Amino acid sequence: MASSDTNAPSVVVRTTLPRLPLPPASEWPAIHTERLLLRPLTQDDLQAYFALRQQPEVMAESSLGKPDSDISETQAALNDFVDPEREKFLFGIFIAATGELIGDGGIHTVRFGSMGWPELGYKLAPAHWGRGYGTESMSAVLKAWWALPRQEAEVKVHPDSLQKEPGGSILSREHVAAEIATYNKGSRRVLEKLGFRHFGTWNESDTQLHRLGQPIEMAHYALSGPS
Ligand SMILES: CC(C)(COP(=O)(O)OP(=O)(O)OC[C@H]1O[C@@H](n2cnc3c(N)ncnc32)[C@H](O)[C@@H]1OP(=O)(O)O)[C@@H](O)C(=O)NCCC(=O)NCCS
Repeated sequence: MASSDTNAPSVVVRTTLPRLPLPPASEWPAIHTERLLLRPLTQDDLQAYFALRQQPEVMAESSLGKPDSDISETQAALNDFVDPEREKFLFGIFIAATGELIGDGGIHTVRFGSMGWPELGYKLAPAHWGRGYGTESMSAVLKAWWALPRQEAEVKVHPDSLQKEPGGSILSREHVAAEIATYNKGSRRVLEKLGFRHFGTWNESDTQLHRLGQPIEMAHYALSGPS
């Protein structure tokens, strides 16, 4: 568990990151899992994405914590999928059998995440919770993430995010991080099932509009990449 009492990244490690710029999303192959299709969203998905982002439960853990007010806010979010300048690795999550858009997720911050590492996030429509789709989709996205071509990089990270080997030496293997409000037990369980390690919990300043600036307890997780 956490040995540091601050959440600021403070250790520079020589590690790897995906080679930037990432290939344009239009070139990413669709990902097929047992029950799902994952692919970057396109302009054609705007109405379905708006309907998804109108659901309060879907947006409850987003940075603003509220549904989109109008379709222009959804368009801005959709631009994250289509604009390579934004350095994201995000996918729409569809039910393979019906083509229904039920969520999105992936690496929403490639560089300069709050712990220094690339950061994972996801959200699903409540009608589809509890069926294993969160774990199934993000497991497949992470597999695609680790398969991207790599380059060496120096990254300033939180020291507790680094895994220590039995002998005590620190692995500088590349990681993915995630941060979750401690009350969000379902999402924390998804991370555990994906193999993430809980390394710290800190009070932070809430970004959600209805609680702006109030303290919120956030649990931090890290997953080390394949050796
Ligand atoms: C978090 C979320 C993606 C989970 O999706 P999901 O498809 O239901 O997830 P899975 O079915 O793969 O796994 C959920 C796990 O959490 C468990 N769980 C769900 N609610 C729980 C709760 N209140 N307490 C404890 N465990 C809980 C489930 O039992 C399951 O674990 P199990 O397989 O060991 O039984 C979905 O609830 C969601 O979109 N929430 C809103 C957005 C959000 O919170 N995003 C994460 C922040 S980045």
